[in-house]
Amino acid sequence: MATKTTTRTRSTASKTTAKNNASKTTATRPSARGMVKAKSTAAEGLKELFIDCLKDIYWAEKALSKALPKMAKNATNTNLIEGLENHLSETEEQITRLEQAFEKIGKKAVGKKCEAMDGLLKEGQDIMESTEPGPVRDAGIIAACQKVEHYEIATYGTIVAFAKTLGLDEIASLLHITLEEEKAADIQLTEAAYNTINFDAAEMD
Ligand SMILES: [Fe+2]
Repeated sequence: MATKTTTRTRSTASKTTAKNNASKTTATRPSARGMVKAKSTAAEGLKELFIDCLKDIYWAEKALSKALPKMAKNATNTNLIEGLENHLSETEEQITRLEQAFEKIGKKAVGKKCEAMDGLLKEGQDIMESTEPGPVRDAGIIAACQKVEHYEIATYGTIVAFAKTLGLDEIASLLHITLEEEKAADIQLTEAAYNTINFDAAEMD
């Protein structure tokens, strides 16, 4: 009985503390240290956030479609070159799918600079500059492309989930096709690395 009373008292006390903390948090929120100030264009709901993400990946796919031919030119392994060329065709289709998604929600297809893709592509360029043409550069190109694929898998996974939540089922299905293509491209790159390219690169040591 004594234990029960103690528990009840503690529970009441912790509720009171939680309530006080909550009101303190609300009161201090605008000036809280580390709280990022939103821009005037900040998304107010999930649909606006979804559209922002579409613009981001639209820019990213277009940037990738310009970078892939250069990577293919710098690769020497025929399987890798073929894989990069195939993925360029897929990327062009993915851009078209994004334009269809914009159209379905009545928005103009506009890109917004994707800092992540910009950085990943700069890193790809840096990897090529840091390697001699041949198996080592091929291994570097695979590394750069897999980082891109993982970024895209994360992005499409997120926007498919957003579209489903918003009841935009047709768009979700459309973007899901792209998500599966990105996963397949990643697997293909892993196989190219494990089957030959990494071993060929290791022989260069
Ligand atoms: Fe893509």
